[in-house]
Amino acid sequence: MQFPIELVRANFPSLSATDNGRRRIYFDNAAGTQVPQQTIDRITDFFQRYNSNTGVFNTTSVEVDAMFAETTEALADFLGTPDAGEIIIGANMTTLTYQLSRSLAHRFAPGDEIIISRMEHEGNVTPWLQMAEDNDLTVRWLDFDRDSWCVEPEALTALLNERTKLLALNYASNMTGGVNDVKTLAGLAQAAGALVYVDAVQFASHRLIDVKELGVDFLACSPYKYFGPHLGVVYGRRDLLESLHAYKLRCASEDLPYRFSVGTPAFELIAGLMGTLEYFQWLADLVGAKGSRRELFLAAYGAMGEYEDHLSSLLLAGLQSIPGLQLQGSKTLARRVATFSFVHDTHLPSQIAKALSSEGLFCHWGDNYAVEVGKTLGLDPVEGVLRLGLAHYNTEEEVHEALAIIRRVLS
Ligand SMILES: Cc1ncc(COP(=O)(O)O)c(C=O)c1O
Repeated sequence: MQFPIELVRANFPSLSATDNGRRRIYFDNAAGTQVPQQTIDRITDFFQRYNSNTGVFNTTSVEVDAMFAETTEALADFLGTPDAGEIIIGANMTTLTYQLSRSLAHRFAPGDEIIISRMEHEGNVTPWLQMAEDNDLTVRWLDFDRDSWCVEPEALTALLNERTKLLALNYASNMTGGVNDVKTLAGLAQAAGALVYVDAVQFASHRLIDVKELGVDFLACSPYKYFGPHLGVVYGRRDLLESLHAYKLRCASEDLPYRFSVGTPAFELIAGLMGTLEYFQWLADLVGAKGSRRELFLAAYGAMGEYEDHLSSLLLAGLQSIPGLQLQGSKTLARRVATFSFVHDTHLPSQIAKALSSEGLFCHWGDNYAVEVGKTLGLDPVEGVLRLGLAHYNTEEEVHEALAIIRRVLS
């Protein structure tokens, strides 16, 4: 079945917004995606009908509690766990990771080792570096392979020993787009006695996550990167979340997931996230899928992924045909998502970005907080790369037009 791109696009109001009459090509999706009407409607509905705090008998409060429970259950289906208590919602991935690093530090002793991959965004680096510094832990760096653009099992095995307590690993790089074999790598680390904390922020808009299939201990993602509001979400194994030292107010609930919900949640955004999860089900229905909520998520992501891969192959081929352009990532689709970064022989990323943005081709440039990736690749620390990130609402025409603009700017 053909991907219903026209219906999808009509369902994202911002895609038809213009700047002084000029259309926008949103290829800045790796930094944050646009939201569907369902998300907007849910946020508006919250403020119009049941804006309230939680936990009392007012009808508004009862509805907030029901919405929160409904959203965490839908998120559990979305991430592949049957247990909504394993889903923590917070401000963003970075804040949640800091919060959990403070709790996890209680499990580690001076001299213990943690491994951080060099494929990470700083959100999965600095919290662990600071935890290590505060607690006299040793940090081991895990390189990625320059041919596969991924962390290979041999590199990890060489670092593991009986002192290894934690592996911080990303699912997909926000600079190169490389996708790690998280299941294999997590299994190796866990067999050595380490916990595994996965950053799936860049992965989540492209492929459906299955935390139980991966067998990881923690997995973080950010709804604003997968068509939702600015929030962060962490999956954590129940036994760990129950036993971890929680940094919470004394009077706050000990129950999961509230044990790790610090302060008053952004209820309107959580309602919006429910709208995003409904959007995926709406899309599944459009492509003729039936079944459980999880099956609908699978169908939506299957359709989105197939369509996006087609756009990726066009963009990849086009970028590689441009003289002087060096792609910083895999040239095939096999182990990557649709996040494409490049440098050019004669044009700086900042100059290219300025020129592209002035033509309505939205993009990103710089280190993109992938500091270790940039160091490994020998990139200029400030200029970094020019980054383009596709989403399933982009079109073939946009890819062709983007390539024409890039060719013109780089000629
Ligand atoms: C791979 C990756 N990890 C972590 C983050 C940080 O996420 P947040 O903004 O939710 O803290 C980002 C944001 O760009 C990212 O791309």
